Amino acid sequence: MREYPGDRVDLRSDTVTQPTPAMREAMSQATVGDDVLGDDPTVIELQDRMAAMLGKESALFVPSGTMCNATAIRAQTEPGDEIITEAHSHIYIYEGGGFAALSGVSVALVPGMMGIMDPADVARAVRKGDGSLGHFPNGSMICVENTSNRGGGTCYPLETMDAIAAVASDNSCTSHIDGARIFNASVATGVEASRIARDYDSVSICLSKGLGAPVGSVLVGTKEMIYRAYRWRKMFGGGMRQVGVLAAAGLFALDNNIERLGEDHSLARKLAEAIEAMPSFTVDLDQVQTNMVYVGCEEGSADDLVSRLSEKGVDTLTIDDSSIRAVTHLHITDEDIDRSIAAFESSQ
Ligand SMILES: Cc1ncc(COP(=O)(O)O)c(C=O)c1O
Repeated sequence: MREYPGDRVDLRSDTVTQPTPAMREAMSQATVGDDVLGDDPTVIELQDRMAAMLGKESALFVPSGTMCNATAIRAQTEPGDEIITEAHSHIYIYEGGGFAALSGVSVALVPGMMGIMDPADVARAVRKGDGSLGHFPNGSMICVENTSNRGGGTCYPLETMDAIAAVASDNSCTSHIDGARIFNASVATGVEASRIARDYDSVSICLSKGLGAPVGSVLVGTKEMIYRAYRWRKMFGGGMRQVGVLAAAGLFALDNNIERLGEDHSLARKLAEAIEAMPSFTVDLDQVQTNMVYVGCEEGSADDLVSRLSEKGVDTLTIDDSSIRAVTHLHITDEDIDRSIAAFESSQ
């Protein structure tokens, strides 16, 4: 499905999607209320749907994935605590240090293999204040990113998810999934999102990535935790009023844009295999499990490659000096991938 103004192939991120005409129609029809007063029926419907889909008691609509993780951390930790997360996780790298500024927690970083943490490494990273003569912070929350963005869009094996949740409960920690792309993980592995999240206390899910809504994330968990998150959302300035117009986009996305994520995954695979066959670039095909392709440049800088591709109408993102990222999403077609492959070929 293209439904995108302009003739560029925008592979920078799955966040670039624009609401399609059908989604805009659903938004324009939405019944709204004042969600800060708790009476926007479309927001309530979205929250109830998402809680049910993830097998949790309750849910909260928030403006962004970053705020979703921030409210989850703030609602489940105390200042002076420590969160445990993977070394390249979004929470650690790309959220402005919000865990420290907004929640007053430190972070213990766990190495990942393609972004996937080993439960034994997670267990080793949990430090407790008690028994340390007051030296250690209190490791109280374990965060798992599934799919792992910097890991290459990789999916956690279910047994690893379960084992990390067990580490959390054995160590009196809460467990959180940064599930910005949990439906990509679900479609790629064939495991229901509710089963992936079964043993976790909270999950943040983005509507504005592969699902194609313009704005919004949903935090799910127990009623009691969501109530605390609701208070923190207010304090962080994330209480929104007639926001049913955005929740309607989210509901439309849940109805129409989950199963089709498989198409994004196939196109990413096609792109990855073609690029890997080119002598100037490398792609670790094991990483390509969902909608992301991380490309290593054997010669020249990543910025140069991004510029050369851009001259051919293909937009990608620099990740570091020698690698770039391409992400498929609902506006990318088979023809766009052929054009992108040709652009990579002529940029060697
Ligand atoms: C894994 C992950 N978590 C959270 C976020 C944050 O989402 P937002 O950009 O809506 O704040 C992103 C954004 O790309 C992400 O990739």
